[in-house]
Amino acid sequence: MKTTRSPTTSTGSRLAALSGNRWFRLVWIIPVALLVLAGVVLAARGIRSLPDVQSFLTQFPGTTTLPESAPVGFPAWLNWQHGLNAFFILFVIRSGWQIHTTKRPTMFWKRNNTGLLRTRRAPNKMSLSLWLHITFDTLWVANGVLFYILLFATGQWLRLVPVTWSIFPNALSAMLQYASLDWPVESGWVNYNAIQTISYFLVVFVAAPLALLTGLRMSPSWTFRRLSKVYPIGVARAVHYPVMIFFVAFIVVHVVLVFSTGALRNLNHMYAARNDDGWLGFGVFAAALVLMIVAWVAARPVILRAIASLTGTVSR
Ligand code: HEM
Ligand code: HEM
Repeated sequence: MKTTRSPTTSTGSRLAALSGNRWFRLVWIIPVALLVLAGVVLAARGIRSLPDVQSFLTQFPGTTTLPESAPVGFPAWLNWQHGLNAFFILFVIRSGWQIHTTKRPTMFWKRNNTGLLRTRRAPNKMSLSLWLHITFDTLWVANGVLFYILLFATGQWLRLVPVTWSIFPNALSAMLQYASLDWPVESGWVNYNAIQTISYFLVVFVAAPLALLTGLRMSPSWTFRRLSKVYPIGVARAVHYPVMIFFVAFIVVHVVLVFSTGALRNLNHMYAARNDDGWLGFGVFAAALVLMIVAWVAARPVILRAIASLTGTVSR
């Protein structure tokens, strides 16, 4: 007798296959996410309308007041440093990701100048990805050290370091305002809102030093044998990667907010050291972006190998 598959089973198995499909899962994840988001916005609006909360928002508008001595606006050096930082970190992240995902590297770099830097150890040999990572780390850290010096020499640090406890209620206030989609009116030219201050502080004074301290521990030139016991390499490894995740998450949210809260004015702040709604900042940003794309595309193995060969021997 001929057996035919029952239609219910085949529909069932098709459904089972569909539910395992990534795109199908997206089909229901998106509406659920939108519903949750709408719920959060409605809840935030409801909370905002309560009289007590309204007086809280008046008392803590979302931005702390800066000391009189704090500078107003962005100097050109800060624009340069911010732009260079973005350029360098792009390649730091790219090469870090390569190190993370390449289990068996095929190209290696070995330093030529073993004379000056020779220690008890053999000449360093590393994968080309690690060479690229460390090269851009060096540029990034040099830029960062100069940034620290200039921040503290010019008083600009006052805009990045929370100096009063009221930063916390203000951050809560700003969060509520963001969540209710009635965003705080602000001018980053004069002062950042509390969430911005906290996140910039975390990036500059927590995440960046953490990346350096854990990166140095993993680096082939780590020679502090005595410190190795109290600071095992496993700890550094376990922290370094999450730090990258933090940077990437920060950058995504940061750039989305820059573009959704007055893009032209914000870009003028950070790319043209001015506080108006013209297109100059956008133009400079676009040029910087083109430069980053060109460098990204140019960073192919042939070219990297040629550059790496200037200071060492590249082998397969
Ligand atoms: C500040 C100076 C830094 C130094 C000296 C440094 C050094 C290193 C070293 C030596 C490794 C290789 C570890 C291994 O061989 O397994 C590494 C891996 C890595 N680095 Fe960095 N790094 C620095 C900053 C950063 C930053 C800022 C990021 C990202 C924002 C980053 C992302 C990564 C990633 C994703 C890996 C791969 C980690 C893994 O496979 O789990 N690094 N780094
Ligand atoms: C390329 C994309 C980026 C754009 C368009 C951008 C844009 C901006 C803008 C417009 C501001 C000033 C905000 C205001 O005036 O309210 C700012 C500040 C800042 N950004 Fe970015 N940014 C980018 C990438 C990054 C990256 C990659 C980092 C760090 C990993 C970063 C870290 C910061 C910090 C720390 C500040 C505060 C600087 C200070 O006041 O000293 N940005 N950014």
